[in-house]
Amino acid sequence: MVIRNIGELVTNDPALGHGPLGLVRDAALVLDGERVAWVGPTSDAPAADEAFDAKGRAVLPGFVDSHGHLVFAGERAEEFAARMSGEPYKAGGIRTTVEETRAATDDQLRANVRRLVDEMTGQGTTTVECKSGYGLTVEDERRALRIAADEVDEVTYLGAHVVPQGIEPDDYVKLVAGEMLEACAPYARWIDVFCEHGAFDEDQTREILDAGVRAGLTPRLHANQLGHGPGVRLAVEYQAASADHCTFLTDADVAALAGSQTVATLLPGVEFSTRQPYPDARRLIEAGATVALATDCNPGSCYTSSMPFCIAVAVRDMRMTPAEAVWAATAGGAKALRRTDVGVLAPGARADVQLLGAPSYIHLAYRPGVPQTAAVWKRGVRHPDRRAAGSEGGGAGVRE
Ligand code: NIG
Ligand code: FE
Repeated sequence: MVIRNIGELVTNDPALGHGPLGLVRDAALVLDGERVAWVGPTSDAPAADEAFDAKGRAVLPGFVDSHGHLVFAGERAEEFAARMSGEPYKAGGIRTTVEETRAATDDQLRANVRRLVDEMTGQGTTTVECKSGYGLTVEDERRALRIAADEVDEVTYLGAHVVPQGIEPDDYVKLVAGEMLEACAPYARWIDVFCEHGAFDEDQTREILDAGVRAGLTPRLHANQLGHGPGVRLAVEYQAASADHCTFLTDADVAALAGSQTVATLLPGVEFSTRQPYPDARRLIEAGATVALATDCNPGSCYTSSMPFCIAVAVRDMRMTPAEAVWAATAGGAKALRRTDVGVLAPGARADVQLLGAPSYIHLAYRPGVPQTAAVWKRGVRHPDRRAAGSEGGGAGVRE
């Protein structure tokens, strides 16, 4: 299939177009099955079996949402309301969701993941990472990962989310690094620890990460979300793919990230939904760190599934430029997941494509809160239509 008359194409490949976003004007894109086959100007586009007229609108790689907690039951709207009346966010809220998650059936948990992935896809996200962490027993963590592995691209074992009720912290760390890890490792690529005051300290984090690495998993860390601490330093030391949150950073943390391959994944929806100060994206970018944006979709600290929302907040309140934020939500997320096949639209890449109902990617930040996803293809397959500003009804209506 050829998508023609793309007003502005974001390729994220500087060899294909202008600037870090690799922008091409008046572009065309050829999809062949699950892959991108060709990128270039519409005037040079080869013939294809099927043609789609983008009518001058913008096309981007699908978003890569590299941080989510989707396997859960219930919700915590009251906790959110209490925060908005002045209560601080506390890691302990996780235990409420753990109780409800343990009581849910497999079908209920699977339906929840599907509902959220569907919400995400409808807003342009085509790669999803999902963690366990609301089971916190061997069986409940294994179940969460089994379900996640069926539904999303990237799966992370987060037995070390919080110490559950009824077990001593040291015994729980032994379980997470022992029997639980053994049960969970076959379903996951990554291991994560909530390294934070009130969750897991440096020694506990080390014990769990060491065991995870021995089991063949690669670290990514919840780091420096609620205060200063050892998380970012450990992430860099363990060559983690990503240090997530990065809200409270010392100069040494920033320098460590800048001198490493560890991506700083910022989650603006969390600060929005917890009324915390935003992470300093400019400081990280100017120091030379690689920055990704993700939703952290979860029922506690941030219940958004919307990458466009995160982009808008990152631009408005974290002083990222629209170009930086869009790169961070696509190519940055791919780097945080060590993927080269997504977050980019170049020959050979996965055919994960979003069409906006707008002429430029800048509208993602310029028109906050307005649905702008006109069409999404995941692995070359069109996602069920979503109404969007300027989409002229989508679906058959815009097909030539
Ligand atoms: O990324 N920080 C730890 N975990 C989640 C919150 C989970 C919850 O509150 O239920 C986070 O913010
Ligand atoms: Fe998280």
